[in-house]
Amino acid sequence: TGAGDGGDGTAAGSDLDLVSDGTLTVCSDVPYPPFEDFDESSPSGFTGFDIDIVQAVADGLGLELAVKDSSFDGLQSGLALNAGECDIAASAMTITEERQENLAFSDGYYDSKQSLLVPTDSDIASIEDLEGMRVGVQQGTTGEAYTNENASGAEVISFPSDAEMFQAIQAGQVDALLQDLPVNLVHTAGGDFEIVEEFSTEETYGLAMKKDNTALVEAVNEQLTELRDSGEYDELYDQYFSE
Ligand code: ARG
Repeated sequence: TGAGDGGDGTAAGSDLDLVSDGTLTVCSDVPYPPFEDFDESSPSGFTGFDIDIVQAVADGLGLELAVKDSSFDGLQSGLALNAGECDIAASAMTITEERQENLAFSDGYYDSKQSLLVPTDSDIASIEDLEGMRVGVQQGTTGEAYTNENASGAEVISFPSDAEMFQAIQAGQVDALLQDLPVNLVHTAGGDFEIVEEFSTEETYGLAMKKDNTALVEAVNEQLTELRDSGEYDELYDQYFSE
């Protein structure tokens, strides 16, 4: 069977129980580059590694892609999916046992770790130096949990989004940010901030779906396998994470 063909001549996506017929509706907390960002020139209005992956999944299933900007905390808790807001949450979301109580995950598609970002003129050199310091984290994330467990004596401040965290460190309202390495790396681009420590938390991102939507999980995993087999996954990976 070719991609997009369910084997009986109908589009593979047509037998899936979707929020909106003929469309793969994806929730994502945007911006979170390089995984998700706004892009007026792209057909979906969005760009990023996650967006390209779900675009390929939608194409393979013969579906249109619609992306909705959503709060990460509502995605990781399962609230948005269970309320029928979208079919998939694609949001650089780490597969965790706790989340698996409320959500189903696809096979993993990206391995990540945590990192500590500080201003280049900061005296903070490691997580040990955070005592009495203000550390910005994103609400509901694995970075928030890691900071609460490992940064003893720090004042942990949770923000709804990466953009708000970054504004806070630029304004000097927090002394450091602890979150996923590839995203902190984007914040080092201007030269004002640097990553002083990485933490091997062995996290793997997955696409999240409603727990009972087994048909969709299977269809998505087939598409991810197809992406890897065709070499398209490697091309996307190199495009976003080369060097
Ligand atoms: N990987 C981390 C987690 O799953 C952070 C993800 C945040 N994603 C986002 N689009 N803001 O908790």
